[in-house]
Amino acid sequence: MRYPILGVIVFASCFPMPELAAQKKVDFVKEVLPIFMKRCSECHGAEEQEGDLRLDIKASVFSEEHSDPIILAGKPDRSMLYRRIVLDKDDPDIMPAEGDPLSKRQIATIKRWIKEGADWPDAASAKVEPEKSPQPVEVAVPDIDDAGKAALAALRKRGATAVRVSARSNAVYVNFSLLAKGAKDADVRAMRGLEPQLVWLNLGRTAITDEGVAELARYKELRRLHLEKTAVTDGALAHLAGLEHLEYLNVYGTAVSDRGIGALAPLKGLQKLYVWQSKVTAKGAAVLKKQLPQLVVDRGDYVAAIRKVTAEQKAAAPVNDMCPMMPKRKAVLTAVFVYEGERIAFCCEKCLARFAKSPDKFLPKLRRKKPGKTVKDTVNETCPFVDKPIKPGVVAVYKGKRIGFCCFNCRDKFAANPQKFAKVLEKFGLK
Ligand code: HEC
Repeated sequence: MRYPILGVIVFASCFPMPELAAQKKVDFVKEVLPIFMKRCSECHGAEEQEGDLRLDIKASVFSEEHSDPIILAGKPDRSMLYRRIVLDKDDPDIMPAEGDPLSKRQIATIKRWIKEGADWPDAASAKVEPEKSPQPVEVAVPDIDDAGKAALAALRKRGATAVRVSARSNAVYVNFSLLAKGAKDADVRAMRGLEPQLVWLNLGRTAITDEGVAELARYKELRRLHLEKTAVTDGALAHLAGLEHLEYLNVYGTAVSDRGIGALAPLKGLQKLYVWQSKVTAKGAAVLKKQLPQLVVDRGDYVAAIRKVTAEQKAAAPVNDMCPMMPKRKAVLTAVFVYEGERIAFCCEKCLARFAKSPDKFLPKLRRKKPGKTVKDTVNETCPFVDKPIKPGVVAVYKGKRIGFCCFNCRDKFAANPQKFAKVLEKFGLK
């Protein structure tokens, strides 16, 4: 088998291919990170984390909390970050959200970096101040021993993300959610050896069941745990009662109920509990909050509020056209918040939720519309394919009309062959 390989090498060196020879791999630290720091970090850094995104921390960019991947290695076109920087300069969703667009050269560098695998050295992340970050990056844990190293290797081989949360810490982050339903109860056992270091675990959208969660009782350092969109039930939460450091738990979209969250009462450090689209009621959340006063239970109440407004949206127009949180972006009627008698509209639920947390801080940013002013709009507010609100930046233009979608999958499905979706087009009078 040696001969043919040698043949290839000889061939390559006799006829150097100019493109390959000239282009050195993009150096993330020297070429890409400076763009993020200069043009993005003001809104996606230590001070502000717009869209829950920090572009100075690797784990934030590759976190599974984003519904569409921010960066998908090898695929710029499937990477939210790339798609948002190449939008038309007048597009309200373009990033950076203020100032000039990135230069052609900067865009090309980022594109090539993603294509080449989006290599982001672990050491190249901001050093996070503990009090500013909700992420458990500064936890002091012992060095990773041989059993732990073997576990990291096994997890990576399995296709999970298994990394240190920051350059300064041995604390470890493991993410199975990329494997989706391919990750099963048995896979959780591969983490054995990382008991002293595992602080952050994402099992969201996997095939984990209560039985797999039972295994987690041994990971006493866990700070953050994602179990959203899984088959876990009330029984699973009983296994977490001994995780005394747990700060964040996400059981959104599961069958967990009031009875199940009752088991969390001993977790004095629990700060955030996500129970949107579960069976947890407002009453159940209130009972738990009596025992854990610092706890914020997110039931997605603001989403219910939005639905209610949609039903009565004809009653009154909002006072603004543009989102107060994103001045370049139009506000939509599916995200309206009434504050001191004014109906204030936002571009998305995320902005609404941020505003609702501290209205007085953001009220000065509100620009009330002048009478008679019209805005360029999408023809719809709910995705044509799925019953979900449309998302900023996810738009297809067809026959001069802007149609919004809830995700790029839906958008691309439509854009690839608009004619095929006659029914959809009919809905918007575009047939
Ligand atoms: C002036 C503030 C500002 C600047 C500067 C800025 N952004 Fe943003 N960005 C936002 C806001 C606000 C959001 C959340 C709302 C949204 O998704 O549009 C956001 C959202 C995003 C998202 C989507 C996150 C998600 O989870 O959906 C990406 C990707 C992004 N920005 C990339 C960038 C990049 C890359 C840069 C620099 C080239 C940048 N942004 C600069 C304000 C900013």
